[in-house]
Amino acid sequence: MPIDGRNIAAVLEESGRLSHMVNDLQELSGAELAGKKVELLPIELGGFLAREADLARPLFVQKGIELALVRGKLPVVVAADEAMLLKVVRNLLSNAHKYTAAGGRVEILTFAGGEENGFLVRDNGVGMEAEHLPYIFERFYRADPSRTRGTGGSGIGLAIVQELVLGMGGRVEVESEPGRGSMFRVTFKIQTSASVRSAGG
Ligand SMILES: Nc1ncnc2c1ncn2[C@@H]1O[C@H](COP(=O)(O)OP(=O)(O)O)[C@@H](O)[C@H]1O
Ligand SMILES: [Mg+2]
Repeated sequence: MPIDGRNIAAVLEESGRLSHMVNDLQELSGAELAGKKVELLPIELGGFLAREADLARPLFVQKGIELALVRGKLPVVVAADEAMLLKVVRNLLSNAHKYTAAGGRVEILTFAGGEENGFLVRDNGVGMEAEHLPYIFERFYRADPSRTRGTGGSGIGLAIVQELVLGMGGRVEVESEPGRGSMFRVTFKIQTSASVRSAGG
């Protein structure tokens, strides 16, 4: 097919998509953690996420989406690798931004449980059918390619998220409903003094 005015946009879009995918793939291999040092240090999620939300907010505002951080008064501390946590948060926010329409709202919440601390990112965007949920953390899986054509995603973001979260000893879960929105929850076990003691022998 010759490149003309009608299909040049499609060609550009496709090559943009490919270069995104190459970047993502490099990220993913970087996230394999092979030989990579994972440095778990105490990070206070409220402050960390407040900074990330402030950085991301202009992009959300530009699309007409409200981005709110809901944090309690007490600090919520997790043992995490700062660079890895950053990628996790940015991937989740980028999805929330992509799959939420103008007029929508995205919330980041911190939570402190008995033995687990963490945060969640929830949106009131397009949501997903239940049948997709078991697969969305797999590489290249996209819940609905037609609906998201042109958004530049390659279905790698959540694979990276899961790899990084597991690499830090945490876990990530999703809840979603079509037309109502999605919620991604990232949970870290709290290092109790007992487990530190037993780890130390
Ligand atoms: N916040 C969300 N709302 C609705 N669907 C989502 C959301 N986050 C992820 N998804 C679905 O999960 C799929 C996989 O996500 P991801 O791995 O980040 O790939 P993509 O490159 O498509 O963003 C997406 O294609 C989309 O269908
Ligand atoms: Mg993504």
